[in-house]
Formats: sequence, structure tokens, C-alpha cells
Amino acid sequence: MPTALITGASTGLGAAFARRLGAEGHDLVLVARNRDRLEAAAAGHRAAFGVRVEVLAADLADPAARARVERRLTDPDLSPVDVLVNNAAVETCTEFAQARLGELQTEIAVNVTAVLSLTHAAVPGMIGRGRGAVINVASFAGYLPPRGSAYAASKAWVLAFTDTVAASLTGTGVAALALCPGRVRTDKHVRTGRPVGREGSPLWQDPDEVVDACLADLRRGRSLSTPGWVYASVVGVLELPRRSLRALARLAGRGRTSRPPAVSVARR
Ligand SMILES: NC(=O)c1ccc[n+]([C@@H]2O[C@H](COP(=O)([O-])OP(=O)(O)OC[C@H]3O[C@@H](n4cnc5c(N)ncnc54)[C@H](OP(=O)(O)O)[C@@H]3O)[C@@H](O)[C@H]2O)c1
Repeated sequence: MPTALITGASTGLGAAFARRLGAEGHDLVLVARNRDRLEAAAAGHRAAFGVRVEVLAADLADPAARARVERRLTDPDLSPVDVLVNNAAVETCTEFAQARLGELQTEIAVNVTAVLSLTHAAVPGMIGRGRGAVINVASFAGYLPPRGSAYAASKAWVLAFTDTVAASLTGTGVAALALCPGRVRTDKHVRTGRPVGREGSPLWQDPDEVVDACLADLRRGRSLSTPGWVYASVVGVLELPRRSLRALARLAGRGRTSRPPAVSVARR
């Protein structure tokens, strides 16, 4: 059975990824800080889908805990991870000038450093096996940063980073995709006391529909998924210049891809 490791898997979008991938027959590794909530989710997935579920309680802002998740991704004695979903993120709901530096640094540690280090741990094994996928959860805020903390900047980084990784994985059988949701009805909004949009609003989506759209885009070979027609239209326009540049770069670099890669091998 394929295995999926999902960060922030206890609630919201991460829980929806776990439900959908579990329903498709993936064994699951669930990562978040609160072990009790993870264990409750794991029991539900085992009962509903009959898959194996591991619980890995870890604070991704903590380098030692992050290293435990990296080790799970690289351990040759455990089932290899075929799908990595970098979903966990934090958002400081304070104006930049009032936010404590430590809070902003935690945003960067969870939203940027963990995405970088877990992707870096997972990808070599996936390339070796000739298959796999990394889904990095970004945000529409990465395109249009609102005022506030370092959250939107961290999501802009996720978008650019995933572009880089997807390009460097061409021809390996491994895919990378950035999921760019707009507004999703999750606990995040309840926790921060923000109003959640009414049912039927085109600006708000449910976690399950966002995940379904994301996995459909992954299977179509896309490297960016923007669920919802409002967000898809805006991002489509914003992405047009970049898409044209990429097409030009591919045309200009056609000759290069036909040459064998230059590998330096130590002479004996
Ligand atoms: N909701 C939206 O409107 C929206 C819009 C655009 C993008 N997104 C993105 O979608 C993703 C999921 O958002 P969501 O709304 O589902 O969030 P959420 O409901 O707040 O859930 C966050 C999850 O991440 C875990 N988590 C938080 N801090 C962590 C840490 N330091 N280490 C490990 N796990 C941690 C939480 O569990 P513990 O507390 O137990 O650790 C929880 O499982 C995020 O990347 C977010 O930026 C959300």
C-alpha cells in the first residue's frame, strides 16, 4: 500500500487530506503537536478505511522534533512515503509592528523551514523509487499579501519554492504541486474569531472540496492547484506572464535537455 505523510493532519485541510488519501487506500502518517487529537483522528481512519495509521506528534517549529519527522521520511526500515503533504502552518494575527519577533520566527520555522527540510528529506527516496508526490499548501495570500505578520510572505515563498522543486523533478516520475486555497472553512478562522463566509459564497470552500480539486490537479500533472473559480480566475491572470516566461525558457533550453547530465565521478 502507498503511504502518505501529512503535517497538520488533526484538523481542517490536513484532516481532509488524511480522509481522502485514507479512503483511496493510503497508509497514513499523521503529524501535528497535539497527540490526543492525532490519536483520535487515527482511530477514525483505521475504522473507516482499514489502513495502517502512525501518529507522529511533533512541533515543526522545534528543530529536534522536525528532525524526527525527517527521519521518518528517510528511514529505510519503515514503509517509504509516497505522498508528502506539507500542510501545517501558523498565522500570527497581529499587526507586524506589534507582533513579537519570536511569533514571527515561529511562522517562518513552520511555514518555510519545515516545508524546505521535509521536502529535502523526502525527495531523494522518491526519485530513487521513480515515483512520489509532494504537495505544499500555500495560500492565495501568497499572491496578494494582506497587512499583518510574515504569513503571506511565507506563502509566497512556498509558491516559488514549489515551482523550483517541480521544475527540478521533471522526468523523475516525482511530482511537486503547490495548493493555493482562498478561504476554507476550518478551525483556523474559529480560533482567530474571524467571521466564516456563508454557505454558497464563492469566496469560501469546504476542506473536502479543496482537497478533491488538489488531488485531481496533481493527477492531471499540474504543479499549481487553485480551487474555486474566483481564485482560479485571479491567479490565472497573475500567472500569465510567468507561464509565458516558462514556455520561452523551455524553448530556449530544448538543446540542453538532450545532453546527458554532467556528473563528476571521483577517479580511482
Ligand atoms: N483555512 C483557510 O482559509 C486557509 C486559506 C489558505 C491557506 N490555508 C492553509 O491551509 C493549511 C491548513 O490550514 P487550516 O485552516 O486547515 O489550519 P488549522 O485548522 O489551523 O489546522 C492546522 C493544523 O496544523 C497543526 N499545527 C499547527 N502548528 C503546528 C506546529 N508548530 N507543528 C506541527 N503541527 C502544527 C495543527 O495541529 P496542532 O495544533 O495539534 O499542532 C492542525 O492540525 C495551512 O497551510 C494554511 O496556511 C488555509
